[in-house]
Amino acid sequence: MGKITAAITAVGKYVPDYTLTNKELETLVETNDEWIFTRTGIKERRILKDADKGTSYLAIKAAQDLIAKRNIDPKEIDMVIIGTATPDMNVASTAVYVATKIGAVNAFGYDLQAACSSFLYAMSTASAYIESGRYKKVLVVGADKMSSIVDYTDRATCIIFGDGAGAALFEPNEEGLGLQDEYLRSDGIGREFLRIEAGGSLNPTSQETLDARQHFIKQEGKTVFKYAVSNMADASEKILERNNLTNDDIDWLAPHQANLRIIEATARRVKLGMDKVMVNIQNYGNTTSATLPLLLADYEDKLKKGDNIVFAAFGGGFTWGAIYLKWAYDSK
Ligand code: UT7
Repeated sequence: MGKITAAITAVGKYVPDYTLTNKELETLVETNDEWIFTRTGIKERRILKDADKGTSYLAIKAAQDLIAKRNIDPKEIDMVIIGTATPDMNVASTAVYVATKIGAVNAFGYDLQAACSSFLYAMSTASAYIESGRYKKVLVVGADKMSSIVDYTDRATCIIFGDGAGAALFEPNEEGLGLQDEYLRSDGIGREFLRIEAGGSLNPTSQETLDARQHFIKQEGKTVFKYAVSNMADASEKILERNNLTNDDIDWLAPHQANLRIIEATARRVKLGMDKVMVNIQNYGNTTSATLPLLLADYEDKLKKGDNIVFAAFGGGFTWGAIYLKWAYDSK
C-alpha cells in the first residue's frame, strides 16, 4: 500500500440571494463605485438578510450542496470542521450543530478560528487526520456571516466584506494526489490592526462597549494591506521553492480574496499570469473563511486531475500561509 495523502474529492457552495452593490453602499457611507472597484476589485457582495439565520445556515447549505453533488451518505462523514470567524454563538460549537443538521450523526466536529486563514489551516488539520489513517471522510466548511460583525457606517470595512460558505470533502488517496506541502505562520502583532475589541473575555460586552461600537470589526486597512501583500507573496514563493516548482509547474493560484491588488501582487511574485489565478472577489467581496472553498466551487469545472494548485491566505491574528495541493478529479 502506497503512502496515504489527503485529497479533495468534492466541493460545494452557498451564497445568499441578496446582492449588496457598490451603488447601494453609496447610500450608506461616503464612497463611490469607482473608488471601491479600483481599490479593491469588488463590484458586489452577498448578504444574508434573515435576522433569524446565522453562519450555520450558510454552512449547512454549502455542505448539503456537496453531499448532493457527490451523492454520499452523511452517516459516512467522520468529522466536520467549520472554519469561521463568525460562529452562531461563542459557546455551542457551530460545527456540531451543522453536523447534526446535515445528518452526519456518526461525526464529531469543532470550529476552527483563524480569521481569513481559517480554511487554509483547516485544510492542514483535515489532511493530518486523513494521512494518519485515523479518519476517512473529513468535511471542511469555510463559512462566515460577515454582515453580522460589519459596521455599515464604517467605510473602511463595510465595502469589503460579504457573506458566504464553501465546503470541501477530504478523503484518502493512494495515487499521490491531494495535499503535498504546507507553510503556515502566525504573528500576534496582528491583533493591534484587525480585531473586534469587545465581546470576548478581555473586554466583555457592556453598554459602554456597545455605545462605542466595539462589537464591530475594525481594521487599519493600510497596515493590514502591507502585511498581507508581503506575507502572502512570501508564503507562495516559499512553497514553490521548497517543492522545486517553477511558475510553469503551477496550474492555478487560489488566493484569499481580500483585495484584487493583494491577489495581483502575489501572482506577480510567483510570476503567474492572471489567467492562472482564481478570482471571484468581484462577485462576493471578502467572505473571510469562505473565500478559498468558494473559489474551488466556482472553478471546479476548469480543474483537471493532477493540476497543481497553490492556495495562499492572509488574515487577522495575523495568520497566513500557503498550501500546495494536487487536484484529484476531473469534473464532468
Ligand atoms: O482579509 C484579510 C484582512 N483584510 C485585508 O487584507 C484588507 C487590507 N486592506 C485593504 O484592502 C485596503 O487598505 C482598503 C481597501 C481597506 C483601503 O484601501 P487603501 O488603498 O489602503 O486606502 P486608504 O485607507 O489608504 O485610503 C486612501 C484614501 C483616503 O483618503 P485621503 O486621506 O487620501 O484623502 C481615505 O480616506 O481613500 C479614502 N477612503 C475611501 N474613499 C472612498 C478610504 N475608504 C474609502 C471608501 N470610499 N470606502
